[in-house]
This record gives sequence, C-alpha cells and structure tokens, in this order.
Amino acid sequence: MKYKSQKVAYWFFALSMLLLVLQITYGFIMGFARIGFDGLHEFIPFNTARAVHTNLLVVWLLSGFMGAAYYIIPEEAQNELVSVKLAYVQLISLAVVGVIAIIGFHFNYWEGRKFLEIPRPLDYLVVVNVLLFLGIILLTLFKGKRRTTTALVLSMGLLFAALLYLPGMLQFDSQTMDSFFRWWVVHLWVEGVWELIMGGILSFLLIKLTGVDREVIEKWLYVIVGLTFLSGILGTGHHYYYIGVNKIWIIVGGIFSALEPLAFLAMALFAVNMYRKGEKKHPNKIALYWTIGSAIVSFVGAGLLGFAHTIPQTNIYTHGTLVTAMHGHLAFWGAYAMIVLAIISYALPNLTGRKMFDSSRGRMAFWMSNIGMVGMTVAFGVAGVAQVYLERKMKMDFMLVQNEISVHFIVLVTCATLFTTGIILYILEFIKHGTPSDEALETKE
Ligand code: HEM
Ligand code: HEM
Ligand SMILES: [Fe+2]
Repeated sequence: MKYKSQKVAYWFFALSMLLLVLQITYGFIMGFARIGFDGLHEFIPFNTARAVHTNLLVVWLLSGFMGAAYYIIPEEAQNELVSVKLAYVQLISLAVVGVIAIIGFHFNYWEGRKFLEIPRPLDYLVVVNVLLFLGIILLTLFKGKRRTTTALVLSMGLLFAALLYLPGMLQFDSQTMDSFFRWWVVHLWVEGVWELIMGGILSFLLIKLTGVDREVIEKWLYVIVGLTFLSGILGTGHHYYYIGVNKIWIIVGGIFSALEPLAFLAMALFAVNMYRKGEKKHPNKIALYWTIGSAIVSFVGAGLLGFAHTIPQTNIYTHGTLVTAMHGHLAFWGAYAMIVLAIISYALPNLTGRKMFDSSRGRMAFWMSNIGMVGMTVAFGVAGVAQVYLERKMKMDFMLVQNEISVHFIVLVTCATLFTTGIILYILEFIKHGTPSDEALETKE
C-alpha cells in the first residue's frame, strides 16, 4: 500500500467476510426449511430468515464498497484519508446498527418491505453513518493532489446510493405509492448507481492489473456510465407493470429495461478487452480472476437472466416467483459480491505485505464458489419455471405447488454446499494473510 490510512479498508473487508458467513448460514436455514427440515421454525421462521439473509447481503456488500473506497480513494487522490479515527468510528457504528437491525428482525422489529426491512429509527442512524463515510471520502478526494475519473465515478456512485436511500423512508398509506418509491431504492441501486460503484472499482482494478493506460480504461468508463443511466433510470418501469400506476409504464419499462443488459455487456467487453490488451505481468492472478469473472458473470446473471423476465408479457407470469430468486442470486453474485471479492484479493497482499498471489487454494475458492453458484441458479431456475407453470398456468394452489417443487431444493442445498466450500477457502486465504502492517508501506505493486 502507498498510504498508511488505507489500512482502515482491511477492517471493513473483515466485517464484510463475517457478515457473508452469517448470510450464508441463513441461506441454509431457508434451503433446509424448503426441503422439510424446519426445526428452527419456532425461533427463525422462513420470513425472518429471508429478511436476515437479504439484509445481511446488502450490509456486507456496503461494507465491502466502503472498504474499497477507503483503499482506492487515497491512492487515486494521492492523499491520506482526512481522518482515520472517524473512519473507525464509522466502521463500528455500521457494525452496531447492522447487528441491532438483524437481532431486531428476530423479534418482529421491522418494516415488512422486502429489502427495506430496517425500521425507521434505525434508518436515521444509517443516514448519519453514511454521511460520516461520505464526508471522509469526499474531503479526502477534494483535498487530494489528483482527481481521476475512476475516483469520481466511484464517489458519485456512493453519493447517489446514499441519496437514493431517502425515498425508501417516505411514508404512504397506499400500497401502490409505497411500492412505487421502494423501487427507487431497490432498482435504482442495483441497476443504476451501484453499477457506477462497480464500474469505478473495475476500472481501478483493470488499471492496476492489466497495465493498460488509464486514458483508455477511463474512456470505457464514460460509455458504461452513459449506458447505465440511459437504460436504468426509465428501466425502473419493469417493476411498475401491474402495480396500479399509469399503463404507460408497460411500454416505457419494457423498452428501457430491455436495453439494460447493454451496460453489463459493455462491462464484460471492457474487462476482457483490457485483459487482452494488457501485458499480463501483474503477479496477482487471483485478483484478475475475480475481476474478469465479475464482469462476465454479472452480464449473465443481471443482463441475460434479467432480460429473461423483463418483458411485460413474461413478467406477468414470472413476477415474484423463484424465477426472480434465480436472477437475484446470479446478478448479486456476479456484479457485486465478485467485485468486492476482487478488490479484497487485490488489496490484501498490499495491506499485509504477504504476497500469497497465485495459491491453489485461492484458485479453488474461485472455481468452487462460481460453479456452486451457477448450480444454485439452475436449481432456482428449474424450480421457478415449474412453479410458474403449475401455479400460474395450471392454477394450482400456492402451497401445493411449493410442495411439488421442494425436490429442487435438495439440488439447491447440494450446490450451495459446493459454493460454501469455495467461500470457506476464500476466507481461509483472507485469515492466512494476517492483519495489515506498516512494513507493507511503499511496497512495489
Ligand atoms: C447487478 C444487477 C442486478 C441485480 C443485483 C438484480 C437483482 C434483482 C433482485 C434481488 C430482484 C428482486 C427484487 C425484489 O423483488 O424486491 C430483481 C428483480 C428484477 N430484476 Fe433484477 N437485478 C439486476 C439487474 C437486472 C437487469 C439488468 C434486468 C433487466 C434486463 C433485471 C430485471 C429484473 C426484473 C424484471 C425484476 C422483477 C422480477 C419480478 O417481477 O418478480 N434486473 N432483480
Ligand atoms: C449457501 C448459500 C445460499 C443459499 C442456500 C441461499 C438460499 C436462498 C433462499 C432459499 C432464498 C429464498 C427464496 C424464496 O423466496 O423462496 C434466498 C433469497 C435470496 N438470496 Fe440466497 N442463498 C444463498 C446465498 C446467497 C448469496 C451468496 C447471495 C448473493 C450473492 C444471495 C442472494 C439472495 C437474494 C438477493 C435473495 C432474494 C431473492 C428474491 O428477491 O427473490 N443468496 N436465498
Ligand atoms: Fe429492476
């Protein structure tokens, strides 16, 4: 690492890994419950497990993004973080708010809105936490010697993500209005501003790992930002088809959301092209795997599998079924989980000074988790298509259908075990690197 204050990033990454393990645990609780092993039902019913699983996902990804920013911004801006102490305060308060929310969910202290279950009083704490984070990052950037496109896109993504949390805090009595604004958060995050965060991290990693000129890489970044906004903003309409708003959204949502895969396609082409152009000299091959992998898997999970149910004539059948879970898993995995794992793989040797670059355990972690996740996606997909057919076409009762498709969850849990083995190997590598040390300062990258 080049700046001492970058060490803060390590602890955000560590929190991220801890929460990932917890998220997976709740995934298994649900997977087993779906097969009929629901022994924990009294304490952790399915709806609680689901809310904990998805919220932990969001928090570990955010912690990963924040760690990425604390690592990347000093290096791009050529400036130490303006306050390391406040960054640690921010880390601890993030962990505390997360833990209170997750414990609260087990006691029905929540709002019943998918992905936005965190109750209102805690929302205010989230806002304070994120303001503190943004303050540190933006001040560091503006006081720095250099303002790169990469740093600007990353910070813009983080700033907009914070602003877009606010529409989720508006209160309505109408279910339609509530739903309308809930998507400003959920959709405009994952199919809008988080893509900028991903683009920023991707660009930083490609500059470091491929050796291609910054100018070339950052030109692509403009194209990606353009395509994201062009398609993603009005693409929100693919959630408005049948919720009781103006019918114009059927056309607008259909057209613009069908264009959304272009941004992910551009990211995949970008990464592969830069890899081809590059000198391939950087020794950290594992980080390269995760970086290129993220760009490709996100195109499949978000772009292709998103497209698969985004047309109104399809979505009327698939809405809210396991087809959505199929897409949700591979999209989140490819775009956001993998890019966080990529920046961690890149940063860890630089932070700790231990250059465990190309270990076979690291490569196994990559392949096992990816093959496992693809298997899980297929299992969700097959279950989802069966569900659509039986429930929506044959008009069978919801619960009867759930019984019929429970066999697919045996496949899901099997693939999830492979996936989890990969994640355990990844975390073992993480632990093996040890904690950051000042001796790692100024080492050649
Ligand atoms: C990395 C990017 C993406 C992520 C992480 C993601 C994730 C998700 C998740 C978790 C849901 C369920 C949300 C909920 O019900 O509250 C969802 C729904 C949906 N996504 Fe994506 N998505 C991404 C990109 C895309 C793209 C590019 C498209 C279209 C081309 C798309 C199309 C859809 C559609 C149509 C739904 C609604 C499904 C339904 O009606 O039940 N997604 N997505
Ligand atoms: C061992 C691993 C995992 C298992 C067994 C698992 C299982 C499940 C199950 C059973 C559901 C509920 C589906 C339903 O409504 O019936 C779910 C939801 C979800 N999981 Fe996982 N999961 C795992 C890991 C992950 C990972 C690593 C991610 C993200 C990268 C993820 C993202 C999600 C999302 C976004 C949803 C909500 C989907 C939707 O809105 O329809 N899960 N998971
Ligand atoms: Fe969407």
